[in-house]
Amino acid sequence: MGQEVLVASRLYPPTLATLEQRFTCHHLWQAEDRTALLTSLAGRVRAIAVSGGVGADAAVMDALPGLEVIACFGVGVDAVDLAAAAARGIRVTNTPDVLSDEVADLTIGLMLATVRQIVTADRFVRAGRWLQGPLPLNRCLTGKTLGILGLGRIGREIAARAAAMKMQIAYHSRRPVADVPYRYLASPVALADVADVLVVITPGGSETRHIVDERVLAALGPEGTLINVARGSCVDQTALVRALVERRIAGAGLDVFEDEPQVPEALLSLDTVVLQPHQASGTVETRTAMGQLMVDNLIAWAEGRPLLTPVV
Ligand code: GLV
Repeated sequence: MGQEVLVASRLYPPTLATLEQRFTCHHLWQAEDRTALLTSLAGRVRAIAVSGGVGADAAVMDALPGLEVIACFGVGVDAVDLAAAAARGIRVTNTPDVLSDEVADLTIGLMLATVRQIVTADRFVRAGRWLQGPLPLNRCLTGKTLGILGLGRIGREIAARAAAMKMQIAYHSRRPVADVPYRYLASPVALADVADVLVVITPGGSETRHIVDERVLAALGPEGTLINVARGSCVDQTALVRALVERRIAGAGLDVFEDEPQVPEALLSLDTVVLQPHQASGTVETRTAMGQLMVDNLIAWAEGRPLLTPVV
């Protein structure tokens, strides 16, 4: 058995099995007394494996003074205190690229499901309502403008798919992206103003907290649809629920929420909303690839090689 690794959260079981083949694992997420486990591992454990959603705070880093690396299962590392890690010289890895296609697929599915009312229509058929008459008409996506908030790796995959669906693509990022043919808008409000569908795919964290706020929702307007596959924190959820209930936007497709797995009660009865349990990367193939990349980062660290996908 090689080095010791603290497994700080529940992991995808096949990933855990791969990890356990190579490392001696200690399971913080199963510990009845977390403090006692951390104390017993202090000075011994130099690596953490954790899901991106759980991350690691400064207290865990301080409890493990020898800590060298935090390997995250997931691309988003907003739950890791990156400043605390940098201050202690702790490296952080994530799992970019291997999930971009999957998240982009779910985004397109969510957009179609919301705008074409696929889920509502399914309920309509199951309830026998088709026997009484046709489903009211819904709206077209061809030729409409998709506004992408955050044109990173996943945003580009969403854009490529939407362009193939003959949508117009516009985006806002911190700065214009050099090598894309899409229209750049200088602010989230300006983007929402031109968008028929606004997709949020920025990183989470303090910089993007409530990047979609009341003003952005007002700019999206009553014909506009919001899709969030980023983080719940990126959207002012209270403002969003209000806008949906008051029909000030047309609908929303949401894979993420501010306080997962809690979903605001008001959304559950709205036919204009499609709800997903944070599953954008959730296929066997992609979760396996993410797990392998996380483990490969830890093996690289253990063998003194450069990390494959370091965040800092
Ligand atoms: C999923 O939310 C991820 O960050 O990979």
